[in-house]
Amino acid sequence: MTIIFLFIYTLTFFSIPSSFQLDEFTYIGFTHPETKLSLSLSDSAQINKNGILQLTSDTTKLTGHVFYSSPIHFKNSSFSFSTCFAFSIRPNDVKLGGGDGLTFAIAKSKDFTSALWGGHLGLFNSNNIGNFSNHIFAVEFDTYQNFEFGDMNDNHVGIDVNSLLSNNSALAGYFGDDLVQNEVNLKSGKPILAWIEYDSITSYVNVTISPSSSKPRIPLLSFPVRLSSIFEEYMYVGFSASTGLVSSSHYLLGWSFKLNGEAKSLDLNTLPSLPKTRKKHKSTLIISLSILVPFFVLTSILIVVLFLIKKLKNSEVIESWELEIGPHRYKYIELKKATRNFKESELLGFGGFGRVYKGTLPNPKIQVAVKRISHESKQGVREFISEISSIGKFRHRNLVQLLGWCRRGSDLLLVYDFMPNGSLDKLLFDQEKCVLNWEKRFNIIKGVASGLLYLHEGYEQTVIHRDVKASNVLLDDEMNARLGDFGLAKLYDHGSNPGTTRLVGTLGYLAPELTRTGRATTGCDVFAFGTLLLEIACGRRPIEPIGPDDLVLVDYVWSKWSEGSILDVVDLNFKGDFDENEVLMVLKLGLMCLSNEQLGRPSMRQVVSYLEGEVEIMEDLRVPSGGCVEVGGFEDYLHSYTPSSFEQTSSFTVLPKT
Ligand SMILES: *[C@@H]1O[C@H](CO)[C@@H](O)[C@H](O)[C@H]1NC(C)=O
Ligand SMILES: *[C@@H]1O[C@H](CO)[C@@H](O)[C@H](O)[C@H]1NC(C)=O
Ligand SMILES: *[C@@H]1O[C@H](CO)[C@@H](O)[C@H](O)[C@H]1NC(C)=O
Ligand SMILES: *[C@@H]1O[C@H](CO)[C@@H](O)[C@H](O)[C@H]1NC(C)=O
Repeated sequence: MTIIFLFIYTLTFFSIPSSFQLDEFTYIGFTHPETKLSLSLSDSAQINKNGILQLTSDTTKLTGHVFYSSPIHFKNSSFSFSTCFAFSIRPNDVKLGGGDGLTFAIAKSKDFTSALWGGHLGLFNSNNIGNFSNHIFAVEFDTYQNFEFGDMNDNHVGIDVNSLLSNNSALAGYFGDDLVQNEVNLKSGKPILAWIEYDSITSYVNVTISPSSSKPRIPLLSFPVRLSSIFEEYMYVGFSASTGLVSSSHYLLGWSFKLNGEAKSLDLNTLPSLPKTRKKHKSTLIISLSILVPFFVLTSILIVVLFLIKKLKNSEVIESWELEIGPHRYKYIELKKATRNFKESELLGFGGFGRVYKGTLPNPKIQVAVKRISHESKQGVREFISEISSIGKFRHRNLVQLLGWCRRGSDLLLVYDFMPNGSLDKLLFDQEKCVLNWEKRFNIIKGVASGLLYLHEGYEQTVIHRDVKASNVLLDDEMNARLGDFGLAKLYDHGSNPGTTRLVGTLGYLAPELTRTGRATTGCDVFAFGTLLLEIACGRRPIEPIGPDDLVLVDYVWSKWSEGSILDVVDLNFKGDFDENEVLMVLKLGLMCLSNEQLGRPSMRQVVSYLEGEVEIMEDLRVPSGGCVEVGGFEDYLHSYTPSSFEQTSSFTVLPKT
C-alpha cells in the first residue's frame, strides 16, 4: 500500500513540474537561479545583475537570441497559445535613430548562427530568407526602415512568416476604446508590454502593445495565418534582436507564455527597471535649494512683473485648430529665445522660402535650425500647416527631420534638426580645398536617392519635392546626405492669387515639361536629381557663366559623351582616385534622368537599384535631337544667382513672372 502510494507520489511530483514547465512559464525579471538553465542564450545575449535580459548592447552589427531551452510540443493541429512580454529599446544615439529591432519568434530550431545582423534581425540570411523550409513565425518590432523588406517606417510592428516581408504590419501604437490610434515610440527606451495570441480555430494572430500595464481591448494587428501549416510538432519559442550600422540596446524585462490558455499577465511595476542613464545628486540639490529659497521669494515678485510686461509684448494668438496639428507646436517665445531674438549673427542663410537661423533649445539642449517664412496670405499658411502633421511624420535618415513649428500672424516658423556640415553646394563649390572625395560623393548620391524614393513611394501619399538641388542637400555630422525643404513647395500652391500657378523650382533643375504645363510630377524630381548627379560628378554648377557665354552642364556632358571622352568631365579634384565604373554609371544615370521625355527617365526605385548595383545600365544613350535642354531665361538665372557664404539655406528659388 505505502509502496503504491509512494510510487504515485513520485510520479505526480515529477510529472507536474515537467508538464508545467513545457506548456507554461513566467519570468518576472530573469534573476531566478533556474532561469539560466531554462533559457538558451546565444550571441550577444546576456542576463544582467539587475535581472534584465539584454539581447544586444549598443554596439553595431550584433545579433542576440534567447529561446526557451525545451521545445514546445504543439501536439495538436488544433492549438492556441498566448504570450506576454515586456521589452525596452534604447538607441545608442537618439539623433541617429536606432537599429535594427527585436522579434518574438517561433522556430523549428534555436540555432541561428548563420543568421545576419541588421535588417535580417538575426533570423535569416540572404540565402534562406523567404524559404518555406525555415519554419519560422515572427512578430517584429522594427526600429529601422529597410526598403528591401518594404518597411513602412522605422517604428512599426509586423507579422512575418519565413521572411521579413511582413504579411501585415502597422505603425507601432495602440487603440484606445474610442478606436483612435495612439503612437508608441518603440525606441523611447521606456518599457513596453506586448501580447501575442493565436487560436487555430479562427487562425487569427493578434498583436497588442501598450506603454502601460493595462491591455488595450482592441489588438493593433489581427491577421489570419494558418500556423499549423508552418509549425512542426516541436517548436522553440524565444526572441531575437539585432543592431546594424546604427545600434540600440534591446532589453527583455519579463516574459510569460502558455500553450492552450492565457499567459500570465505582467505588471510593469513588479518588473526590474532599467538603470537610469544619468543620476542626479539629490543632497546637493536640497542644500542649494535651501539657500536659494529666500532669494527666490524676493526676486519672484520682480520676475512676475517683468514676465507680465514681456508676455504682453510677445503675445501670440493661438487658434483652436492649431492645437490639433501633429508635430510639436513650439511657443513663439521659445524660438525667439533659442535664436537669441532672431539675431543677425545666428542667421545661417536665406533664400526663396525665408530666413534660416541657428538656435539652441534647452531641456534637452539641442541645436536646431529655425526657418522663418513670411507668407502674404494667412489662409495659405493655415492650409500649409494642416499639411505639417503629415510632413512631421516623415522619418528617414536621408531627410532633414522636422521637429516642430510655430505660427505667429502670417509668419510661419519651422524647426528642423541642425546639420553641422552645411549644404552640399558649399562643400562642392565654396571650399578652398576639396573636402569631398569620390567615395563620400557616391555615398551622398545614394543618400539623396534613398530620401527621394521615400518621398515618392515610402509614405502613404506621393510627395513631390519640387526643389531638389545641391543647396537643399544638407550634411549631418557623419557626412550623410539629408534632403531639406520637402513639402514646402505646397506653400506656394496656396498663393494669394488663386487664378495663377506659380512655378517652384530652380533654373538648371527644371524639367522641360514643367515650364510648359506647370504640373509637377515625380519625373520632375528625377530630372532635378539628374542635374544633381552631373553636378556632383563634374564639380560644376548646372549653368556656369564662362566669358560671354554660359556653360550648360548637361550639354557639355552630352558633347563629351558623343566625342567618346566622357571621363574628361570628371571633377579634377578627385581625378586619379575614383572608381571609374561608378563614376561612369553615375554620369550615364544622370543623362538618363535628364531625358527631355518624361517617359525616358527612370523612376527613383530604378535609380536606387542602379546605384546599389542590383541592376546594370544597359541603355544605349543617344544624344537627344535638338541637343540643348531648355533651361529658361538666363537673365532670371543671373538675377537669382547670388553666391552666399552661409551654411544652411534653401537659396535661389526662381519664381518666374506669372
Ligand atoms: C488538443 O487541443 C485541444 C484544444 O486545444 C485540447 O482540449 C486537447 O486536450 C488536445 N489534445 C491532445 C492530445 O493534447
Ligand atoms: C529552401 O531550403 C531547402 C533546404 O535548405 C533547399 O533544399 C531549397 O533549395 C531551398 N529553396 C529555395 C527556393 O532556395
Ligand atoms: C483577436 O482579436 C479579435 C478582435 O478583437 C477577437 O475577436 C479574437 O477573439 C482575438 N483572437 C484571439 C486569439 O485572441
Ligand atoms: C505571408 O508572406 C509569405 C512570404 O512573404 C507568403 O509566402 C505567405 O503566403 C503569406 N501568408 C499569408 C497568410 O498571407
